[in-house]
Amino acid sequence: MRRFMTAAIAAMLLSSTAYADTIKVGVVGPFSGPFSLQGKNFKAGIDAYMALNGATVGDDTVEIIYRDVPQADPAQSKALAQELVIKEGVQYLAGFYFTPDAMAVTPLLKQANVPMVVMNAATSAIVTKSPLVVRTSFTTWQTSTPIAKVAFDKGIKKVISVVSDYGPGVDAENAFKAGFEGLGGSVVEAIRMPLATNDFSPIMQRIKDSGAEGVFAFLPSGPTTLGFVKAFSENDLKSGGIQLFAPGDLTQESDLPALGESALGMQTTFHYAVSHDSAENKVFVEAASKAIGNPAELSFPSVGAFDGMHVIYKMIEATGGEQDAEKAVEAVKGLSWISPRGPVSIDPESRHITQNIYLREVAKTDDGKYYNKEIQTFEKQGDPGLAAVK
Ligand code: PHB
Repeated sequence: MRRFMTAAIAAMLLSSTAYADTIKVGVVGPFSGPFSLQGKNFKAGIDAYMALNGATVGDDTVEIIYRDVPQADPAQSKALAQELVIKEGVQYLAGFYFTPDAMAVTPLLKQANVPMVVMNAATSAIVTKSPLVVRTSFTTWQTSTPIAKVAFDKGIKKVISVVSDYGPGVDAENAFKAGFEGLGGSVVEAIRMPLATNDFSPIMQRIKDSGAEGVFAFLPSGPTTLGFVKAFSENDLKSGGIQLFAPGDLTQESDLPALGESALGMQTTFHYAVSHDSAENKVFVEAASKAIGNPAELSFPSVGAFDGMHVIYKMIEATGGEQDAEKAVEAVKGLSWISPRGPVSIDPESRHITQNIYLREVAKTDDGKYYNKEIQTFEKQGDPGLAAVK
């Protein structure tokens, strides 16, 4: 009798593990070091999604396993992704703040039978490196194209472009140039600076010497952008009448208290503002604020992560928890939903997110808080960069 009971319990345990699995999601991002606030936003977005939607999909429980890549480091990113797949048995890879970290992992996906959901990295070409990549963030082509029109419409004719010399910077430079020169403006000089640049005074001098009326700039959000916008203000470029045009990476909300008056009035184009006025965003900001602890630290990677989790939940639903990367990706092609940022969809061909891009201006509330105020919407923007990388 006892032997029968033991066998019955063993069979029960076996069948319950067969039907109710734990589905592991490996998330790679900067969780320590100078960019840790960006990683903290990934986590806040993921936590917010799971708090609002539960930690189970059907019978399966979702478990997140985090791995830290503090700065852009493709070799470390690849090694950690391999470890996540082989040792941890993750069924999904997600996160990836920096482009080189995402690029290094795309060659592993097919053999590992694992989809990758990019929650930030913004170089257009990433989605072309594997059919198993889906992106819920933005591209710098997508966010930098509208600002070229904004600059031209302000009567600016001569611009100097300054970007970090790596994927998203080169894309941003090309996007701005194509947009601005297509309208009749001219990019008089294009500076590419090393990703690690933190002394911007020589760049500010070159901007002054160029005779340009405006600057277009892209750097990855973090200490980099904070330093650049501060230097722009401190070197009297702003007061000298030179206007700064950029995608919203340069005025992320978490930097605004430190930037203060130096960013006030600055216009940027971007896919998400924490101040976005919608019912969905209200729910999101409340949950993400709770998750992050200090609401002043909320920034755009949180929404890329929140929507990335939505895509992963849909993938788990469609595969019934089975590991089938192709089927999972197929299931989200054409998926549309209302994100905290506004209406979005996954373009079935590129697997990149189609979304509104907003023109925003740094403004100040009555009680002295700086925020990105949305003032114009460029609706349903795809990625113009994909045509350029084909
Ligand atoms: C990237 O490396 O792709 C990246 C990082 C931070 C940004 C934008 C793009 O703000």
